[in-house]
Amino acid sequence: MEISKELEEMINDQLNFELYSAYIYLAMGAYFEEINLSGMAHWMEIQFQEEFNHAMRFYRHIFERGGRVELRAIEQPQKDYASVLDVWETAYEHEKLVTSRIYKIAELAEKEGDRAALTMLNWFYTEQVEEEEKTMSIRDKMKFIGDNISGLYHLDQELGARPPVEAPPAESFAP
Ligand code: FEO
Repeated sequence: MEISKELEEMINDQLNFELYSAYIYLAMGAYFEEINLSGMAHWMEIQFQEEFNHAMRFYRHIFERGGRVELRAIEQPQKDYASVLDVWETAYEHEKLVTSRIYKIAELAEKEGDRAALTMLNWFYTEQVEEEEKTMSIRDKMKFIGDNISGLYHLDQELGARPPVEAPPAESFAP
């Protein structure tokens, strides 16, 4: 069953939104580099790669379903933040937005009875629980730390140990 034009449009939009997410996290990484929080910068660079992989899952799905990928201009991400906590708060809010967008795509896929799309989206439900949890827990730690420099130093060290993500081979993007 070929993907419907309406669903193709929503998935294309999400593919581009995931690339925008990658861009946002890279900009957050640059912000952390500038203020010498290299562990947090490292965490964001890994997140940038994760988002790229998310985009590729949508990219592959469109092709596998006989659709047409449309890459669009990516909006400039926010450059400056009020504080380190503000960055993590923004990241958490962003992940909640991603989740709500995925649910909207799933609503349409359900309405159309598109099981292939629903199976692909299934992976994202679990992934989004993880994405929200990761950013929320760092946000909460930052709230706890407040202005404590030693606490910030230790959290930065901890986040600097985030392992790299390996880009999966193209065929594994399929559900
Ligand atoms: Fe692609 Fe962080 O959601």
